[in-house]
Amino acid sequence: MQEERAKPQKMVLDCDTGVDDTLAILYAALHPDVELLAVGSVWGNVDIATATRNCLHTVHMAGRADVPVARGAAGPLIGTPPVYAYHVHGDDGQGNAGTGRGVGAAIAGTAAEQMIRLARAHPGEVEIVAVGPLTNVALALGLCPELPELVHGVTIMGGAALAPGNVTEVAEANIWCDPEAAAAVFNAPWRLTMVGLDVTMRTTLDDGHRARLAAGGTIGQYTSRILDHYLDYFAAASFGERRSCLHDALAVAVAARTLVPSSAPTVNAFVVLGDGPTRGQTVCDLRGMYMGYPHQDGAHCRVVLETDPHFADEIVALIAAAGDSAVPLNKEGRT
Ligand code: RIB
Ligand code: CA
Repeated sequence: MQEERAKPQKMVLDCDTGVDDTLAILYAALHPDVELLAVGSVWGNVDIATATRNCLHTVHMAGRADVPVARGAAGPLIGTPPVYAYHVHGDDGQGNAGTGRGVGAAIAGTAAEQMIRLARAHPGEVEIVAVGPLTNVALALGLCPELPELVHGVTIMGGAALAPGNVTEVAEANIWCDPEAAAAVFNAPWRLTMVGLDVTMRTTLDDGHRARLAAGGTIGQYTSRILDHYLDYFAAASFGERRSCLHDALAVAVAARTLVPSSAPTVNAFVVLGDGPTRGQTVCDLRGMYMGYPHQDGAHCRVVLETDPHFADEIVALIAAAGDSAVPLNKEGRT
């Protein structure tokens, strides 16, 4: 008898679409184990208009114009000015390799409202996957305090349990951008999965992967092109050689269970607030590591500590095989 295949994971993906978010959207849009219900944009890597444009462009490029995109928050929860990362993702959030052309339109309503609507429509089934600052998720919690009972869970790309930070010594970018929003998300009583720098710094793409993407259709070629600038950034900032993190796609794959962590204890965790040097740090109680992580009362944060680094090959194969972009190319062959 054939084993029954698990149903695809219903997902609402919330992105501050820069380069790695683009790969995450492509993975979610293309992988048969994901039922991508919707995408929300959020400020972060780039301003909200650019993030929304890039979310729309990516779903359309993947031939998934059926996936609604809702525009989200333009800055942090408490109204402080947004700080962007154009130096990492390029002025267009696409490694300066996009066309910037508008494609499609965002639906009416906010990304937070979209999350709530879809959670109510599919009670217990939707995984919220948030791979930018957690502003939209915190806004959704504020609008709908019962959201934790309505969703399957929340998976984030964000934080660092044992790894160093990537904005400050201890803070990862998505948490550092909006610590108050992150604290609300960490404190809410849902099953939270944290896919942080502990694993995302150890799964990387290099020029060999770019060559495989470039050998595919125009979706792969576009992805290869936007990664060029990103590899330069990581060579200078982190690795001393041309390779880049995958970051956000790992969270999508963990949420879809296409990437099963080899270590992911459920522990108590919190976000450091205030104005001190540790603002935005994620503190995870890993004191049980020498005893196989015994149960902790009240713990609801699954902290991913180890995954298979070969995931990079899998996502590259998926995108390279995706064929041609459904968004027409311009005169320079750009999509
Ligand atoms: O720290 C990495 C994270 O910050 C990724 O989600 C990246 O896209 C940025 O949002
Ligand atoms: Ca991101």
